Amino acid sequence: MTSAALPIRSPLPTGLAGASVVIVGGTSGIGLAAGALLRGIGARVVLVGRDQARLDAAVARTGADGVRADGSDEGALAAVFDHAGSVDHVLVTAGGLSGAGAVTDVSADDVRAVFDSRVWGAFAAARAAAGRLPAGGSITFSSGTYAIRPIPGMTGPLAAIGAVETFTRALAVEFAPRRLRVNAVRYGIVDTPLMRGASGLATDEAMAAAGAQTLLGRFGTAEEAAASALFLMANAYVNGQVITVDGGQSLV
Ligand SMILES: NC(=O)c1ccc[n+]([C@@H]2O[C@H](COP(=O)([O-])OP(=O)(O)OC[C@H]3O[C@@H](n4cnc5c(N)ncnc54)[C@H](OP(=O)(O)O)[C@@H]3O)[C@@H](O)[C@H]2O)c1
Repeated sequence: MTSAALPIRSPLPTGLAGASVVIVGGTSGIGLAAGALLRGIGARVVLVGRDQARLDAAVARTGADGVRADGSDEGALAAVFDHAGSVDHVLVTAGGLSGAGAVTDVSADDVRAVFDSRVWGAFAAARAAAGRLPAGGSITFSSGTYAIRPIPGMTGPLAAIGAVETFTRALAVEFAPRRLRVNAVRYGIVDTPLMRGASGLATDEAMAAAGAQTLLGRFGTAEEAAASALFLMANAYVNGQVITVDGGQSLV
């Protein structure tokens, strides 16, 4: 089945006013910042996360709708879409880091868990979106620069993140006849609760000192990272791409 050509509309993020966006992983960090930016330009937003207290706080902060669900549970995700009613765009920022550690030491369960969270999570979002998004809709996934410049002890999570990048390209081709676009953002180091927890850089001072060693002298903000996802939603001629937002750090 091939639909009519992709509709033309404003490629500016303000063109997302009135659109309906589901953010799987919208209760913290980059997803939460995307929710706040989208609300600011008049989009309808449904935030999805597993922790009820974080969800409540995110809903209160953004004025978005919120549904508690696990993004790797296909049935729960279908219920989120049904709750949302119409959905134009999906952003997936959920994804754990289990399975970190030396290949010879990690448990099979932890490695399976990170694939379940990230790779199956991407499949689940795609399957929920497939029959529901209208022509011109989009799905945006999350990756990280360690996928192309790996660090030791991250083989499990990075293999899953690399699979999401390939899934992005393959799904873009598969969903093109539906006139749905699929892209991903490959983030560098972004100041979020996940990053602070994983790096042990708990204070603003520690973050600033570590960030000073980078090409631009600081790490990225959650808003800078989130804005790239809005660009991908809004620009209807970007498809099947993994765009890097890392302050140029992967060049050096
Ligand atoms: N921050 C960085 O420096 C960086 C760099 C490269 C890549 N990334 C990637 O970018 C994405 C967002 O990162 P972030 O820093 O914004 O992380 P974050 O602050 O930890 O936020 C992650 C969000 O995802 C939700 N989540 C996690 N697993 C979920 C699941 N199974 N189902 C539903 N929601 C789930 C979390 O809420 P609950 O835990 O309550 O569910 C939370 O709302 C991640 O995939 C991360 O790997 C980040």
